[in-house]
Amino acid sequence: MTVSGPNKGGPVLRVDDLRVAFSTFDGVADVLSGVDLEVHPGQRVGLVGESGCGKSVTMRAIMGILASPPARVRGRITFAGEELLTMGRAQRQALKGTAMSMVFQDPMTALNPVFRIGEQLTDVVRWADRRRGLRRTASERRARILEVLGQVRLPDPERIFDAYPVQLSGGMRQRVLIAMALLNRPRFLIADEPGTALDVTTQDEILRLLNELVRDEGLALLMITHNLGVVREMTDYVYVMYAGNVVEHGTTDAIFAAPAHPYTRALFACVPKLSGGRAYAGIEGTLPDYTRPPEGCRFHPRCPHAEARCFERPPSFDLGEQHHSACWLHAPTEAKS
Ligand SMILES: Nc1ncnc2c1ncn2[C@@H]1O[C@H](COP(=O)(O)OP(=O)(O)OP(=O)(O)O)[C@@H](O)[C@H]1O
Ligand code: SF4
Ligand SMILES: [Mg+2]
Repeated sequence: MTVSGPNKGGPVLRVDDLRVAFSTFDGVADVLSGVDLEVHPGQRVGLVGESGCGKSVTMRAIMGILASPPARVRGRITFAGEELLTMGRAQRQALKGTAMSMVFQDPMTALNPVFRIGEQLTDVVRWADRRRGLRRTASERRARILEVLGQVRLPDPERIFDAYPVQLSGGMRQRVLIAMALLNRPRFLIADEPGTALDVTTQDEILRLLNELVRDEGLALLMITHNLGVVREMTDYVYVMYAGNVVEHGTTDAIFAAPAHPYTRALFACVPKLSGGRAYAGIEGTLPDYTRPPEGCRFHPRCPHAEARCFERPPSFDLGEQHHSACWLHAPTEAKS
């Protein structure tokens, strides 16, 4: 199962039947069990789901940064028409940080405290230039870096260039990380909970900035966030994950207008309501142990609608042209009996 996004020109990223298992002391943890998703050029896609459902593992498999072993990765990940999982290591390395790039979550660990910002960004540009066979002078590289530091609205880029990370606030460091991701003009950006280490106001500013840059540059974005308000405001298409599976996906408008899968509905019910009333419904139970996942629909131990057929894995049913749910409740009538 893979769906079409709004863009008909073909996806920039396509993930088919992605499976990731880890060897652990307790046995094999079967974390991703067949994830399918697509991101089209210029499309902003959100990946949501509760903590531990496999969002970062999906993102790390796409970026090729899962340590192997213990990870065993199967399926297909196609980027700009090229199959990543069978691609040579050098070729794959060359894609990272150039055509596809990632905004890291934690500015404290992603930046090296002992080097100036300018030195760290110059390394990133120099590395990509080498891979692209580009010959740029030191001043040309510096000019590109100052340009991007300005683009992420850091005041006085010259001063930032010469600063050490510790001399910048958390919000400024996160902007530097966005600049780092944009330096080599990627076509596709992955952001795994950008700014979660920051206070909510600064995080909001960072997400807005990211949104504007992605829109202005026409980039494709795959964004992971816990914040459903952000998803609603900043994405075009949403994938909802539960326990290593995509359970529902569709345009952001369709999903927010009528969340259909019992898990999505429970997840949305968890959002505190400022208007008062019953503020927090919560989801009963916990995610399964990935070394012994439930058969069939992995949500069945927590689902109030579970029935016998839920011990078989449901396919993805169409609820509309751009809205799909992997739940037996949405099977066409003839398939229900
Ligand atoms: N290297 C690893 N070895 C074993 N298990 C792992 C490894 N990396 C991730 N996992 C497991 O995979 C599952 C999914 O983890 P993942 O980090 O993708 O969750 P997530 O959806 O990103 O959660 P969060 O919202 O908290 O970031 C978790 O149970 C985690 O313990
Ligand atoms: S397939 Fe069954 S258990 Fe799974 S969400 Fe639907 S009703 Fe619930
Ligand atoms: Mg994560």
